Amino acid sequence: MEFIDLKAQYRALQGEIDENIRNVLENADFILGRQVDEFERKLAEYLGVKYAVGCSSGTDALQLIYMANDIGEGDAVFCPDMTFVASVEPGFMLGAEPVFCDIDERTYNISPESLERQIQAVLKQGKLKPKAVVAVDFIGNPADYDELGKVAEKYGLLLIEDAAQGLGASYKGKKCGTFGNIAATSFFPSKPLGCYGDGGAVFTNSEEMMQLLKSLRVHGKGSSKYDNVRIGMNARLDTIQAAVMLPKLKVLDEEIDRRQKIAAKYNEALQDKFVVPFVMEKAVSAYAQYALLAETREQRDEIRNILLQEGIPTIVYYPNPMHGMKVFGNCFKGDETFENTINYADRTFSIPFSAYLSEEDQERIIDVLCNI
Ligand SMILES: Cc1ncc(COP(=O)(O)O)c(C=O)c1O
Repeated sequence: MEFIDLKAQYRALQGEIDENIRNVLENADFILGRQVDEFERKLAEYLGVKYAVGCSSGTDALQLIYMANDIGEGDAVFCPDMTFVASVEPGFMLGAEPVFCDIDERTYNISPESLERQIQAVLKQGKLKPKAVVAVDFIGNPADYDELGKVAEKYGLLLIEDAAQGLGASYKGKKCGTFGNIAATSFFPSKPLGCYGDGGAVFTNSEEMMQLLKSLRVHGKGSSKYDNVRIGMNARLDTIQAAVMLPKLKVLDEEIDRRQKIAAKYNEALQDKFVVPFVMEKAVSAYAQYALLAETREQRDEIRNILLQEGIPTIVYYPNPMHGMKVFGNCFKGDETFENTINYADRTFSIPFSAYLSEEDQERIIDVLCNI
């Protein structure tokens, strides 16, 4: 059984994907070709944002955002303690310090209360300047942008949405990728909208920001790529990847609907035995992963072993809270205990999930889990 069935998705869309790839090969238009423009335009339209700037990965999308907003030495960037390292790694590389915040015990997203506590702690310490907050739509579940927006505004912070796991999700009818001042996403193959390699994008409503991002993704170009006006990166989105994603974008909402149905079925069958995902009212999760909580770490590990013996793969997203990582050992922690993150990391495990998970596999997973 596949954990995420990318092969089934390819089989469903093969005709159009193959033809699109062949077109790129025949035109030898590999770098920032026509399909990149088309994909950026269609993705921006889908999300309801003015500009989508394609780039080489979700990590680079975040780096472009950090660079475009002059985030660096002496700045504090607030971030959930439960995320993938790339949410803050590029900021750290540029000299900013990540300040981790505990997660909400139900949504597993950054807790607005913990965020405010950490901002206060940084101000009290007096060494770092609170500069930005990165809100992650963790495993596809929209963060609480109403509350986060209030805190960001109160302290004059840039609110960055890390929608790497959240494309296709929405909150109060607004799509993930459009919250905060600026947003990033990833097209890593297993993401809700994935390509066949690495890719990412930045979303903005500002024309000036879009121009700056387009300069930064091509070595800080000015009027041409041989007129360099700033230090930038080589962070372009490949034409082939854009061509692969055009057909995938067309069916994204349909896939998100199928994900809701499978999640509802899992929820109903498993809620008496495990903690099932919590999605805020008026929010739609992209269910980039379907995560359950067992009672304890030991029980979780035992269940994973049984599933493995039954040929059912599981993954833990993520086993280690950020605050305990060696790489962030010297970063400011305040008095935060990270109780919710530690509890989540100990108990979570994700089971096979995708829009293409067969009914037979769904039944088998439910059956094995219910009989443990
Ligand atoms: C929350 C989050 N942010 C950023 C990234 C980085 O994306 P990429 O792998 O495309 O660089 C990921 C990818 O896993 C992610 O999950």
